[in-house]
Amino acid sequence: MSPLPDSYRLVDVPETRKDEFLEVDRLAFAFDTTPETDALVPITFEWDRAQAVEDGDGALAAVHASYAHTMPVPGASIACSGLTWVGTRPDQRRRGLLTAMIDSHFTRSLGRGEPISALFAAEHVIYGRYGYGSAADDVRVKIARGAALRDVPGSAELTVRLATVDVSRHSALVDRLHRAAGAGRPGWTTRDSEVWRTRVLVDPPAWRDGGEPLRIATVHDASGEALAYALFRRKESWAEGGPAGTVHVREAVAIDAAATHRLWSFLLDLDLTATVEGPMLPVDDTVLLLLENPRAVVPKVNDNLWVRLLDLPVALAGRRYAAPADVVLEVTDARLPDNAGRWRLTTGDRQADGAYPAQVTRTQDPADLRLDVRELGAAYLGGRSFVAQARAGLVHEKTPGAAHTASAAFLWPVAPMCTYVW
Ligand SMILES: CC(C)(COP(=O)(O)OP(=O)(O)OC[C@H]1O[C@@H](n2cnc3c(N)ncnc32)[C@H](O)[C@@H]1OP(=O)(O)O)[C@@H](O)C(=O)NCCC(=O)NCCS
Repeated sequence: MSPLPDSYRLVDVPETRKDEFLEVDRLAFAFDTTPETDALVPITFEWDRAQAVEDGDGALAAVHASYAHTMPVPGASIACSGLTWVGTRPDQRRRGLLTAMIDSHFTRSLGRGEPISALFAAEHVIYGRYGYGSAADDVRVKIARGAALRDVPGSAELTVRLATVDVSRHSALVDRLHRAAGAGRPGWTTRDSEVWRTRVLVDPPAWRDGGEPLRIATVHDASGEALAYALFRRKESWAEGGPAGTVHVREAVAIDAAATHRLWSFLLDLDLTATVEGPMLPVDDTVLLLLENPRAVVPKVNDNLWVRLLDLPVALAGRRYAAPADVVLEVTDARLPDNAGRWRLTTGDRQADGAYPAQVTRTQDPADLRLDVRELGAAYLGGRSFVAQARAGLVHEKTPGAAHTASAAFLWPVAPMCTYVW
């Protein structure tokens, strides 16, 4: 465990200290809120997963919490401790408080039987030092109104309905479609609690930035069944040439290509708008493949989930693999030494769906690949290649061809991504 400065200590944070906890994050993230907004936006973590560092005066100096996520990983899902609400007061920074909290987070997560941790990073530089690897990307696109999509049979028969978001009316529909659309995609964490299902739909006026209330467009087949939805708001604006409004899309999911086509055809042709600003999309999202002219789109690729293997053999055996492999990984792990050393990953028989399970055991055999747990975390969801990481000097190939073999096994045909920041 990393030492704290004298007189500082780690403490659990009961809900009775909620205001103190939130105040640390307000100072750390420089945001303000109002009682009206707080009343609408639920806290999504459980208080028994919140921790803080208290200074010598008994005041909270740094805080964090975590979510008990079930993380979809290639071919399976696994218990995941989702780190969140991390903040150190600006006047208490760089004294090792985050480092001490991370060590405690790892110990507590392992104690709960969570073999991996994951997070969204506020800044890219923060978490690599703790063994988190950037494991997924998302792409945000700006698309001009009227951008054409390739035809998809069946799209024209679908209809779109528009409504203002109402949590009690829409939460079940959104949850059902979100689960269905993300089935089989690593990283696509679902909203498994009522507070989360509410949180993704709330729309306090303070968040609107001059835009309209949050709307929902739903796509339906002839029987009325919903197949897709988009949560969005338009923001009015006028330019010399006329209307120049923007459609800000919070989330857009569809269960098949026809519904995707219908949904985006609607979003891309709203009167008085000039631009659609997309939500976080997987890099292989269907709408990106349907664009007639992808060059007309301004894409921005961001790091999405970061993954940290806490219990390496359980984590590696807890996912499946896209190709056979028998490979010895020599792993360094400065914070969790039980993960360090050589591990043999051997895939078993090909399953009916084409994927391979694997056994992971300690070995004294020579290493095929040498790498840090950070790079293994980066590859874990199937979105990063060991060959690419070796070319970048981040992974060391000891046996010629081993990076290729391991990449073929770890890479997954569906790009990983989570649709919402937690
Ligand atoms: C990020 C943050 C929590 C770090 O807290 P902290 O208590 O100062 O972190 P520590 O003192 O334990 O720092 C550990 C190391 O990380 C480095 N580090 C931490 N945050 C960093 C940052 N934003 N940029 C560069 N380096 C950073 C420190 O320099 C230190 O390096 P060292 O070990 O080589 O000296 C704090 O700066 C903060 O609250 N920032 C604003 C909110 C935020 O970004 N939270 C993260 C949400 S995902």
